[in-house]
Amino acid sequence: AAAQRRHQATLTEVLRKAEDAFKAQLRTAPRAIEYLKGRGVSGAVAKTFGLGYAPPGWRFLSTVFPDYQDALLVDAGLVITAEETAGADGAPAQEARRYDRFRDRIMFPIRNVKGETIGFGGRVLDQGEPKYLNSPETAVFSKGHELYGLFEARTAIRQAGYVLVTEGYMDVVALAQLGFPQAVATLGTACTPDHVRLLFRFSDQVVFSFDGDAAGRRAARKALEATLPWISDTRSAKFLFLPPEHDPDSFIRAHGPQAFAQAIQDAHPLSRFLMEVASSDCELDTAEGRARMASQARPLWGAMPDGALKRQLLQEIADQVGLDPRELAQLWQGRASGTT
Ligand code: GTP
Ligand code: MN
Ligand code: MN
Ligand code: MN
Ligand code: MN
Repeated sequence: AAAQRRHQATLTEVLRKAEDAFKAQLRTAPRAIEYLKGRGVSGAVAKTFGLGYAPPGWRFLSTVFPDYQDALLVDAGLVITAEETAGADGAPAQEARRYDRFRDRIMFPIRNVKGETIGFGGRVLDQGEPKYLNSPETAVFSKGHELYGLFEARTAIRQAGYVLVTEGYMDVVALAQLGFPQAVATLGTACTPDHVRLLFRFSDQVVFSFDGDAAGRRAARKALEATLPWISDTRSAKFLFLPPEHDPDSFIRAHGPQAFAQAIQDAHPLSRFLMEVASSDCELDTAEGRARMASQARPLWGAMPDGALKRQLLQEIADQVGLDPRELAQLWQGRASGTT
């Protein structure tokens, strides 16, 4: 365990050194600077988030780490060994068995809650694929547990009394720049129960603000499911729905901070979103549709801890499906009313 902690500390040192090198590269890379300027990113916010640039070429990091063959660079997720991608297009031949994972990308350092650099997200400057490349899972980085921007946002979250959860790196950066520094992002994965538990350590109010497109709506449903086990009568969540053509970054840049503040005001409380999800695709003017809703509501309601909110929702669902709450609870417990 002590050896493992030492290994982790060494990895975060390696990652910090790489971060510093990427930052220095950004200062001398007009293309990368132009890209960020073109997206409206200020120098100040770039500094806050430690944005950098990984230059093109296969072995930039060999100029940063004299021992490029050190397995630590692979363990840190910075260097790929040729075996991993044998035959990959354009990969160097056998004389160069290792090469940099991140090449010609804007670099977003990902930090843990202690502020240690544990990985990176890297964005292409053009239409290349993949648009974002993340660090792989390593001894210090686990996507399902970490949230981008949480370290940077921690004080603002406490001050604002809520945390905003977005999908993307650029959403966090744009929101911070335009007056909402209490924003974090999931790392290209669905929001997990572990994420939500972590968020509730910082605030008792979580506001999910995903993209307005179909993927963002699916992400919101996943977030609802991830949140239900952790809510209480004092801890809750809201769901902000943007127009389909927007994500938080594009919305706040197009419509301004006040419009975004209004969107937060208009966000749906969890109870309302739960009722919408429970009744989706249900024709409530038919017995079949109401039965379908009862069936869809069951796992959502069941995932909530007991409390005043849960009991009120039972009442609301029962009203919608045309049953009495006791009957509905009995139905869900697998006992038909009137039998034992
Ligand atoms: P921008 O185009 O820079 O504004 O990115 P975005 O954040 O709006 O991208 P999008 O809404 O398409 O995706 C949301 C998040 O999913 C991104 O911030 C990434 O974390 C992740 N993501 C997007 N594309 C990819 C990809 O190609 N690979 C991986 N691993 N993650 C991605
Ligand atoms: Mn999207
Ligand atoms: Mn975007
Ligand atoms: Mn987006
Ligand atoms: Mn618009």
